[in-house]
Amino acid sequence: MELINTYPVKKSDLGFHGNLFGGKALAWIDASAAAYAMQVCDTPRVVTIKIEECLFKKPAKEGQLLKVYGKVHNIGNTSVKLYIEARAHNVYTGKQTTVVSTYITFVRIDEEGNPIPISERVKIKYGFKIPPKQTPDSSGGFDIYNG
Ligand SMILES: CC(C)(COP(=O)(O)OP(=O)(O)OC[C@H]1O[C@@H](n2cnc3c(N)ncnc32)[C@H](O)[C@@H]1OP(=O)(O)O)[C@@H](O)C(=O)NCCC(=O)NCCS
Repeated sequence: MELINTYPVKKSDLGFHGNLFGGKALAWIDASAAAYAMQVCDTPRVVTIKIEECLFKKPAKEGQLLKVYGKVHNIGNTSVKLYIEARAHNVYTGKQTTVVSTYITFVRIDEEGNPIPISERVKIKYGFKIPPKQTPDSSGGFDIYNG
């Protein structure tokens, strides 16, 4: 998984019980995942269509870092599905515990907000499409001399 973003957990980010407020964590996760989706899809025009179940397994506390990690789970025609994990990082020990994990899907859109296909290059790069076979002509061309 790739580290996408790091947020220091401040007093103003906490909820009633001294834990990082869940809505804050979700906003950070959505923003981080969107940035990652833009990078993956080679375009700034992506929108969140779906955030799947979010399981808040452990709390994050003031003074810790919330580190957001991600990886590409699937690329469809117009959408990319990411697996996202946010971990509380203890700066003194370097120990990390997973706070929340989920899958988030983004759709590539045009200027009018309509879905458009993710480029073939991106699909090939992430292994969701087999590259077309190279013919002698497409690879620059070569001649076999039979003389
Ligand atoms: C994203 C949006 C443009 C898609 O339009 P749409 O008419 O629903 O598009 P489609 O039905 O053609 O689906 C587009 C993609 O979304 C996927 N999708 C649609 N519904 C889905 C669902 N319930 N779960 C997962 N993926 C879904 C489709 O499978 C398709 O992906 P694919 O081409 O890789 O197969 C539209 O739903 C929208 O504008 N939503 C609001 C986005 C938003 O404001 N987000 C919050 C702020 S970023």
